Amino acid sequence: MRILITGGAGFIGSHLCDELLKQGHEVLAMDNLITGSLRNLAHLTTRPSFSFIEHDVTKPIHVDGPVDAIYHLASLPSPVDYLEMPIKTLKVGALGTYNALGLAKAKGASLLLASTSEVYGDPRIHPQPETYWGNVNPVGPRGVYDESKRFAEAITMAYHRTHDLETRIARIFNTFGPRMRLDDGRVVPNFCRQAILGNPLTVYDDGSRTRSFCYVSDLVEGLMLLMERGDAMPVNLGNPREMSILDFARTIIELTESPSEITFIVPQDARTKDDPQTRQPDITRARTLLGWTPKVRLEDGLLRTIAWFREQLQD
Ligand SMILES: NC(=O)c1ccc[n+]([C@@H]2O[C@H](COP(=O)([O-])OP(=O)(O)OC[C@H]3O[C@@H](n4cnc5c(N)ncnc54)[C@H](O)[C@@H]3O)[C@@H](O)[C@H]2O)c1
Repeated sequence: MRILITGGAGFIGSHLCDELLKQGHEVLAMDNLITGSLRNLAHLTTRPSFSFIEHDVTKPIHVDGPVDAIYHLASLPSPVDYLEMPIKTLKVGALGTYNALGLAKAKGASLLLASTSEVYGDPRIHPQPETYWGNVNPVGPRGVYDESKRFAEAITMAYHRTHDLETRIARIFNTFGPRMRLDDGRVVPNFCRQAILGNPLTVYDDGSRTRSFCYVSDLVEGLMLLMERGDAMPVNLGNPREMSILDFARTIIELTESPSEITFIVPQDARTKDDPQTRQPDITRARTLLGWTPKVRLEDGLLRTIAWFREQLQD
């Protein structure tokens, strides 16, 4: 198949390029490099079945030749980025998804939307099944990301229902692994950087918020199975093992063998405004529909990620 990945120079997108190429597909990675990096794709540039297209998906998308499937990942998902670039975040979620769907319709391609657990907002139901409609503050600082993805889901369903387009919606929960940016502000790079450098790990408030972390290879497998075997309704993809941020900080200190201590801070800016208290996917649907379940143990995934961050910090 000839497959387009928007956001292909990002963290998850670049791993998806690797796996689709391994399966023998032709892969076109599209990215405007606003936060992604060609370094994530450097090992692929000599592959004849791989090409990179520098393009902003908020502008109409034209691709020569056939396209069989589109994985639409372009987005600004890290809090540092969406708080700094709120309008670009809304535009890539709304216009970017509209343009990607337009291309899918023109080419007769199926489209998978990378949505997010953030559509559940600060959830009132725990763990979160796909049937939960969420609890999002549309006018809070995080609303720009959450609502852009909620719009993206709505327009994806509208194209499915109106034009009979084959679509998929993956609600991705926290995912981590090599190629995350050290400075992207998400908890895994934050803690790993602090622990490797021997600095205190900064835990917000009392560290009782919970998260569940999925290793990138598991997530990529889930995305590919969803494209292959899924249906149009949303599917949660994430690791159901839940832990408090405080316990997560302790795990990182242990795995990095770091002398770092933990300090508690109460951010005075928008970083934790409307930050969900709990986050755990109900993956019953992914298990039954796709036969998917995450396999990589948190500690094993973290050791691989820490090794990669160490290399980055030495460069
Ligand atoms: N990593 C996670 O924990 C997580 C969780 C939930 C959802 N997701 C979703 O998965 C997808 C990939 O996330 P990621 O963690 O790899 O993020 P990432 O920031 O590493 O990748 C996103 C890519 O999109 C590109 N991009 C942004 N705006 C663009 C535009 N207008 N035109 C073209 N390219 C553009 C960026 O340059 C970047 O390379 C995103 O859609 C994100 O919302 C990720």
